[in-house]
Amino acid sequence: MDKNSSITVALGKGRLAKKAMEAFGRIGIPCDEMKDPDTRKLIFENEEMGYRFFLAKGPDVPTYVEYGAADIGIVGEDTILEEARNIYEVLDLAFGKCRMCIAGPAGNEGLMQENSRIRVATKYPRIAKNYFYNEKNRTVEIIKLNGSIELAPIVGLSDVICDIVETGSTLRENGLTVYETVCPLSARMVVNPVSMKMKGEKIDRLIEDWKRVNLEA
Ligand code: PRP
Repeated sequence: MDKNSSITVALGKGRLAKKAMEAFGRIGIPCDEMKDPDTRKLIFENEEMGYRFFLAKGPDVPTYVEYGAADIGIVGEDTILEEARNIYEVLDLAFGKCRMCIAGPAGNEGLMQENSRIRVATKYPRIAKNYFYNEKNRTVEIIKLNGSIELAPIVGLSDVICDIVETGSTLRENGLTVYETVCPLSARMVVNPVSMKMKGEKIDRLIEDWKRVNLEA
């Protein structure tokens, strides 16, 4: 396999990577090495098909793709919106479905109708800022956190959170509820703009195979 035509794929570690690899397997690009649950390896290869896969932290995937360290990325739309990188979004993969929400303590929904300067805790300051400033025309104080966002309103760090809701159980189990939905989300395939030109044929084939096998079932 000519090195120049081999494709490097960056995957967001965790649930999305597992789903994505099942989908690659179905279109004839399996990577058995990756299935070993005990492996600490970060890079995996399917030499025969000319594909290399690596696992990165989700928020770093658009960075690897923008700089061309990966030709393709598989990542949540939340991360794409938050990172705002120079990459092409080519396919909605229809898994990893969830929604970005504004949530807070149950019974306090009235907060959203006021114009007070509320505190919003989030892993997604860009998305939160865009929602409150541009869509709601409301000035808020954004507090950036790195995880367990639901804690913030419970311990009095913030009034509301801007976070992902999938099943809703984290909110429920912590006495919180959705106030407003910012947008629906799902996993996406993203491509480096130069790779799209230089390796277009192979990337187009991947996109077509993916659509036929994984999306038209
Ligand atoms: C995400 C998100 C919520 C939870 C929502 O957290 O931030 O906390 O999942 O899922 P649910 O609606 O199905 O309960 P994640 O597990 O990624 O961990 P984090 O707290 O480190 O962000």
